[in-house]
Order: sequence, then structure tokens, then C-alpha cells
Amino acid sequence: MKIISNPHELNDYVKNLNKTIGFIPTMGALHEGHISLIKEARKNNEFVVVSIFVNPTQFSKDEDLDKYPRKDEADKKICELSGVDVLFFPNANDIYTKDEVSLQAPNVRGYVLEGYTRPTHFNGVLTVVNKLLNIVNPTRAYFGKKDAQQLNLISLMVKQLFMNVEIVAVDTKRDSDGLALSSRNIYLSKDERKQALAIPTSLNLASSMISKGIKDTKEIKEKMLEHLKLLEVFYVEILDREFNQVKEVELGNSIILVEARVGETRLLDNIWL
Ligand code: PAJ
Repeated sequence: MKIISNPHELNDYVKNLNKTIGFIPTMGALHEGHISLIKEARKNNEFVVVSIFVNPTQFSKDEDLDKYPRKDEADKKICELSGVDVLFFPNANDIYTKDEVSLQAPNVRGYVLEGYTRPTHFNGVLTVVNKLLNIVNPTRAYFGKKDAQQLNLISLMVKQLFMNVEIVAVDTKRDSDGLALSSRNIYLSKDERKQALAIPTSLNLASSMISKGIKDTKEIKEKMLEHLKLLEVFYVEILDREFNQVKEVELGNSIILVEARVGETRLLDNIWL
């Protein structure tokens, strides 16, 4: 596995490859969720690039940029063992200068849900993903369904900016207790982790209501909120795949999303129906 930190060097390297490239952008502290994206890319591309970059512009001033988990050596091993060809490991000053052109998330879809409490977050995500896609120039880029709004906005960006890359959505990987894997789970104490299980179980509850024929989104949301009452819930939302509110669940076209804080840790989860 080759490790490259200079964007121009990587850009030159991939230019001469003549191979299909699968790309997985990450912020490191890699877990089985990230590995499932790498495996998916490995299946369908001749060459696999992973980036590890804790992107400062997607954190607001009072967020956890400095304490975001960093596990560089373990991450390199994981990439090597997962068959990654190039690991892109830039520094912030390889990616950003002082006076920057940046992307703005769309006015509606960028500022609801996660974007409501973190209004600058998706500008930072789109800006860095745009840069990374331009550096790597992949055939396909892989993103987790767990970050459904991020996935939706990146797909919009690629479409609206006529970018030449296929965005591939990958299912959420969970721990054996049902909690969606996240680099932030290590912040949870034992008790908080138990409390956090209310998030996936609220989604299971919704799922079983739906399988009994209940479609009314208001009724499902109320039951979920009741189930989540011990957590600080930011939102429970039932949307269609385009992120519009819906009155009735439609199988094959709805997503149920939850964001809640457990202690100091923000957790996201969702199911795609
Ligand atoms: P990060 O949180 O490291 O996640 C990298 C990718 O892994 C994202 O596409 C995310 O959706 C996916 N992922 C995380 N947990 C997952 C799980 N349990 N199952 C499946 N996929 C999972 O998301 C980011 O980094 C950043 O915002 C980034 C896109 C890299 C831009 O900085």
C-alpha cells in the first residue's frame, strides 16, 4: 500500500493508472463500517483509494475537532489488510489555504435535520468532498447510508455540478447489540451505551409498526419519541428518499431518521424502508 500526503502527487499518480478507481473518504478511527465500504469498493474496482482527513471546516468552533479520535497507525494497518492500494493522508495545509473558495449547502436541504443544529457543517462536508473527488478522480465513491443526509447532499452536489463520478450507498454496519458503528461510540460510558440502544430499538419499533400495516408517520413518530424519552432527541423524522416530509410511509421510498444526544455524544441512525 502506498501512502501519499501531497494532493498533486496523488492526482498525477491516478492520472496514469488507466484503471477503475473506487474511493472511500473518511476521517479515520476506522471501524467495521468503514471496512464494509472498502470491501464494496474492492469488489467493483481495479484500484482502491481511501482518504483519512479530519476535516476542520465541517466542525463548528464548539465541536469536537481537537478531541476527534485519531488512530493513525491502527488505521494504516486496517487499510493495508483490507487491500487498499493508496491511502491519502493529507495535512490541513495540503487541503486548505487562507482565502478559500468554498461550497454552500443548498438552502433547504442543507439546513434541516443535522444542518439545523450544525448550520455550517454541510458546507464543510461538501467543500472537502468536492476537493477530494477532484484530487482522486474516482470512477465510484462510497458513502454510508448511516449518514443519510450527507449522502443525499453529496449525491445532489455531484448531479448539480455535473461531476463525473458514481456515488454508491452502502448499508449501515451495526454492533452485535444493534448500535450503529460510529467513530464517536468510544466516547460513550457503559451506562450511556446502554441508553443509546434506545435509538436502534426505536427504529425497530417503527419497523414492526409498519409491518403491522401502520403507515401514519405522525403516529409512528409519537411512538418513537415516547420510546426515546430518556435521551435528548434532536429529531425523529420520516422522509422520502428526496428528503421531503411525508404523511404516510411508502415502502421502498421512505427513510426514518433519528439524531439524539447521549451524555455529550451526538448519535445518528436511520433505516431505509
Ligand atoms: P466518517 O465519519 O469517517 O465516515 C466515512 C464514511 O463511512 C461515511 O460515508 C460514513 O457514512 C461511513 N460510515 C460511518 N459509519 C458507518 C457504518 N456504521 N456503516 C456504514 N458506513 C458507515 O463521514 C465522514 O467521515 C466525513 O463527513 C467525510 C465524508 C469523510 C467528509 O469529511
